[in-house]
Parts: sequence; structure tokens; C-alpha cells
Amino acid sequence: MQNDGSVTRQLVVDARQPDPAMMEEAGAVLRGGGLVAFPTETVYGLGANALDARAVGSVFRAKGRPADNPLIVHLASARELDHHFSHVPDQARALAHQFWPGPLTLVLPDQRPFPPEVTAGLATVAVRVPDHPVALALIRAAGVPVAAPSANLSGRPSPTTAGHVRDDLSGSIDLILDGGPAGLGVESTVLDLSGLRPVILRPGGVTQQQLERVLGPVELDPALAGGPGAHKPRSPGLKYKHYAPRAQLLLFEGPGPERLVAAMLARADRLTREGQRVGILAYEETRPAFVSAGYPVVVAGSCSDPASVAAGLYDALRWFDNMDVDIILAQAIPSQGVGLAVMDRLRRAAGGHIVMELEKDESDRPCIEFS
Ligand code: TXA
Ligand code: MG
Repeated sequence: MQNDGSVTRQLVVDARQPDPAMMEEAGAVLRGGGLVAFPTETVYGLGANALDARAVGSVFRAKGRPADNPLIVHLASARELDHHFSHVPDQARALAHQFWPGPLTLVLPDQRPFPPEVTAGLATVAVRVPDHPVALALIRAAGVPVAAPSANLSGRPSPTTAGHVRDDLSGSIDLILDGGPAGLGVESTVLDLSGLRPVILRPGGVTQQQLERVLGPVELDPALAGGPGAHKPRSPGLKYKHYAPRAQLLLFEGPGPERLVAAMLARADRLTREGQRVGILAYEETRPAFVSAGYPVVVAGSCSDPASVAAGLYDALRWFDNMDVDIILAQAIPSQGVGLAVMDRLRRAAGGHIVMELEKDESDRPCIEFS
């Protein structure tokens, strides 16, 4: 469906007990080759029938997504793996048992024919079972595996509400299921099981430590090391600037928050003298320091609680698009737990514009209050 200036139909769905008739209607749209945006426990997805090359092609057109960036296939249960893959590695079964439904995507060797539009021509397929009643009911009602990227325009922050989906895609897709805010707020962990050793290609809701409890050692793709890295990421989508608000974002990484905040304030003052309008991405603990200096601040949770930052991050990034700012100074958080996923997204939103402050050794100190 091309954007013809019309508004996409939206159905408000009870997130805990989705109405079966609504789900049947949405499933029929998918079976008929249409595009349906739906909530998951991570972010909103834009679904298409994964077995229909034309439908999958229209996902790429609606998002403006580069053709070399493959999609995740969503299933309603781990049992369906055997319908679509002729060989499921033992490691995949163990992880599916432990973490599905949930925010873990497994990259498996592809032995069955999903159209090349899904895999972007790679010899692997990414697959997951989402942990959200609406997503699961939709996939069941469709009766087909559902290919679904995040339901944002390519390069923009992922949508965590139906409103975000409307802002990006209304008029270009067939239906939006509004099931309220998505849960986690950052996308699933992408784990590559197609090689000799398991490798995390994208950090997300399931942490490296959780995976290692099931698998033993799990590597992080070296491209995740941060900064304008020398390594090319193995997940095709991760080589692009991503999750970005319209204004340039400058990320401040480094030691304890006192010095980080001081460095950000010094830079903000300099940029202001140069005539730039500065906005600040901060946290509950550090907000007062920036507010008292007179800067507009958007708060993304509490930096001592990375889950709260994950839940608020994309909405915070989108807020800046409604503010008159030329540059956003963003404060890093400790990369423990889901904090690693948050930092990965902030680095990508910065597109390599990162200020490294001072020594590394204090870098994971918890946040403190500023008054
Ligand atoms: O939480 C999520 O994963 C959400 C919800 C909607 O399920 N989906 C999502 O999809 O984030 P998307 O398309 O925005 O991101 C998928 C990521 C991309 O970085 C893509 O390159 C990678 O997964 N990916 C997909 N298939 C792959 C494959 N065969 N090998 C390596 N990376 C793959
Ligand atoms: Mg995405």
C-alpha cells in the first residue's frame, strides 16, 4: 500500500485479552498480503506474511528500509520451529525452552525456503516468539509466520506506542492494533547460533549473563564495543545510523556522573555561545543540574534503574523532534543488564558522535543525586 494521504485504520485492543473477532480481522489482513502494526513486549512491530514475497517487499517500501537488512520471523510458539526449519540446533531448543515467549531472537541456519526478501539473501533466518497476548493472537489468527521489523520509518527511534507508529507510517500501512505501550522499550537480543560459537549481534531484553547460564560462554559481536568502531557489524541492520532523533545527538560517555554532567554543561554553554539551541537527554537523578542551568531537558527514567531508561528511551528521543533544538547532549548510563542495550541504541543514535570523558575505570559507577 502506498501512502496516498489517507489515515490508517486503528483498532484499540485489550492488551491482556484481545478480542478474537478483531484478531481474526487483523489475521485476514496479513493472509491477504497486507501490513499490520502490532504491540510486542519489546517495541511495536510491522507484520507481513513471511511466506509472501510481495507482502514482505511492501514492508521495506513502507519503512524506507534498505533491502540488505533482513527481517525477524515471528512464530506463535516454539513448537512451530519444526514446521519451518528442517534442523533446529540443540542450543536453540534449550534457549527457546528458557526464554520464549520473550525478547530473544535466534539466528539459525536457513534450510527451508523463506523468500529472499525476508533473509535479504543471507543463508540464515532470524526467528522469535514474542511475549505479548496481542502479538501471539495475531500470529495464530493469521495462520502464517509473521515477518516483522520495528514499525518505524527506517533510521527513526523504534515505536513504543501506537501513536509513534501513526506518526511514522499512517497512510502507508493497512492496520494499526493499539494495545497500549510496549513493555521493555528496547528490541529483542539478537543471538547468532549459525556459527561455531554463539554471538550476540544486538544486545536487548535478554542479557549475556542470562544466555551464558544456559549455553556457557557467549561472545559479543566486536562491533558492539562502542565508539566509531573499526569492526563491521555482522547484523546487517546495525551498520546504519539508527534510533535517531532529527537533531544531532552527541553522547557523553565515561566515568562517574559528576564529571559527565560537568563536561556536558561546559559543552552546552560553549554551543549556546556559538548560537546553537541545546537540548539535554538526562535522568531523574541528573535532571536538576541541567534544569537549574536553564537547558530544556527530556528525562528517560532513572539511571540507577536501566529498565526504566529502556522503557522511556525511544519516547524521549522522539520528544526532541517537537522541540526547537539543534543539538542534543545525551548522558551515558552504566552498561549493566539491559543498560548494555540502552548504550548500544544511544551510540547508534549518535552515529559516531561520542565524547569520551576521562578515565575508564570509574565508568560503571552507579548514578547519584544532583541538586
Ligand atoms: O524486538 C524486536 O526484535 C522487534 C519486535 C517487533 O519483534 N523487531 C525488530 O526488528 O527489532 P528490526 O527489523 O527492527 O531489527 C531486526 C534486527 C536487524 O538488526 C537485522 O539486521 C537483524 O535483526 N537480523 C535479522 N535477520 C538476521 C539474520 N539472518 N542475520 C543477522 N541479523 C539479522
Ligand atoms: Mg528496527
